[in-house]
This record gives sequence, C-alpha cells and structure tokens, in this order.
Amino acid sequence: MNVTNKKSGEEFTRDELELLTSFAEHVAIVLQRNVLLSELEENRSIQERLTKKIIDAQEEERKRIALAIHDSVVQLIASTLLRLDACEAHLSGNDRARAELYKAKEVLDDSLGEMRGLISDLRPVLLDDLGLIPALRKTAEEWGKEMGITTEITLEGPHPDLPKSAETALFRIVQEALANVKNHAKATRMDLKITSADGRLEIKVKDNGVGFDFEKIIAKSLTSKNIGFESMQERAKMCEGSLEINSAPGKGTEVKVVVPL
Ligand SMILES: Nc1ncnc2c1ncn2[C@@H]1O[C@H](COP(=O)(O)OP(=O)(O)OP(=O)(O)O)[C@@H](O)[C@H]1O
Ligand SMILES: [Mg+2]
Repeated sequence: MNVTNKKSGEEFTRDELELLTSFAEHVAIVLQRNVLLSELEENRSIQERLTKKIIDAQEEERKRIALAIHDSVVQLIASTLLRLDACEAHLSGNDRARAELYKAKEVLDDSLGEMRGLISDLRPVLLDDLGLIPALRKTAEEWGKEMGITTEITLEGPHPDLPKSAETALFRIVQEALANVKNHAKATRMDLKITSADGRLEIKVKDNGVGFDFEKIIAKSLTSKNIGFESMQERAKMCEGSLEINSAPGKGTEVKVVVPL
C-alpha cells in the first residue's frame, strides 16, 4: 500500500484512509504522552525548588528562634542566677532559706541546660564552629551519653570538603535519624559510620532496635503528619545525594546517605 506519493487528484482508498487515520491517532497519543511527561517533569522540578525553599526558610527560622531564646530567656535565667548568688551572700545562718535558695538555683541551672540544648538543636552551632565531621562525632557522643546506650563511631578517610548547605543537610539527616532511634527504636546500640572515599561520602546510622515494616510506614505516612523520612529524602536530594532506609520488624534500622564529593 502506498500513501506517500499520490498523483495530484488521485483519491485515497478506504484502506489507505483507515491506515492514515490510525497512524494519526498513534502520533496524537505519542505527542499527548510527551506533553504530559514534560508537564510532570516541570511539576516535579517546581516541587523540588519549593521544597528546597521551605527547607532553607526553616533553617533561617530556626536560627532566628534560637537567637531569640538566647537573647531573652537564657539571659533572664542567667541574670536571675547571679541575683540569687548575691542573695545567698547576704543570708546569715538561716539553713532553711539557704536550702530553698539552693533548690531554686538548681532548678534554674537545669532550665539553662534545657534551653542551651534546645538552642543547639535549633541551630547547629557545633556545625558552624567545628565543621561537619567533628560536629557529627560530638553530637553522636553526646547523644550516646544522654541515651545511656552503646554508641560506636567510626570515621574512615579524609574530612570531606562540602558546601555549607550540604553540611547542614547532612547534619540534619543524622539528627533526624538519631531522634528516630531515640523515639522509636528501643535500641541498646547505635553505630555511626562515616566513610569518605572514591569521590563520595557515605554516612550510616544503624541501630539494633525493634525495626519496622517500611512499606506499611510509607503507606501510612501519606496521611500522617510525620515528616522525618520525607525531610531526610529531600535534604539528601538537595545535595545531589541519595538516601536509603533499611528496616524490618525485630531487625533494627539502618539509614544510609551517600553524597558525591
Ligand atoms: N530507628 C527506628 N526504629 C524503629 N522505628 C522507626 C525508626 N525510625 C522510624 N521509625 C518508624 O517510622 C515512622 C516514621 O518516621 P518519621 O521520622 O518519618 O516520623 P516520626 O519520627 O514518627 O515523626 P517526625 O519525625 O515527623 O517527628 C516512625 O513513626 C516509626 O514508627
Ligand atoms: Mg522522626
């Protein structure tokens, strides 16, 4: 059947018309599919840009809140403590008053500690001061002490040189992974392994806790308010990296993030 070089005025047969119609329909479907695919791609990139903006705005907001807490509540507690010290110096031999004053100072001291903890969660000062790897090590050490569970930290390879935004993203991923171990795992051991080699940085947070059914949790997360996993994924993507979560009931959990260097 030849439908391409008709002589002028020569009519198409019925079969030729059917063939041409079916060909046109196929072309239309392919074109429509391509349009849908490029719209999907565009929507995805808009969504990624929006998520990045939200995460950046969240970091800025956290810094602002940390500073506000530091400049208000922390200063007030610190100056109240100084006043109580002065007050103590003027107490003469009243044991009951001295004991009460001592208790009040203890409570304020604890509040100051809580506030400082809150500030360092909100704004990773350690990261600003020390850089990623030492900040991760210190965070994991302090986390281990607070949790009272065995914590093993392994570092392999040279300290990587990463942009600040990537360091923040990785720090937040580990922070979230540790928060999850604390809140859900009932673990007796946590391993943090950082390996920098062959142009990539790999960070693993592994626990020996209760684990979970990943498929079930992900299906549930579509309707729940939990955003831990989602924010970890987005942050990994923001530094061109990838994130894997391996878990099974009774088998513990491993969070692995890999970024190119
Ligand atoms: N290390 C872990 N061990 C056991 N279960 C975990 C662990 N990490 C996560 N999970 C399970 O996966 C769920 C989803 O975790 P995700 O971090 O997304 O949310 P969340 O911690 O519940 O809330 P959010 O992080 O938003 O405060 C948790 O509710 C918990 O059931
Ligand atoms: Mg979480």
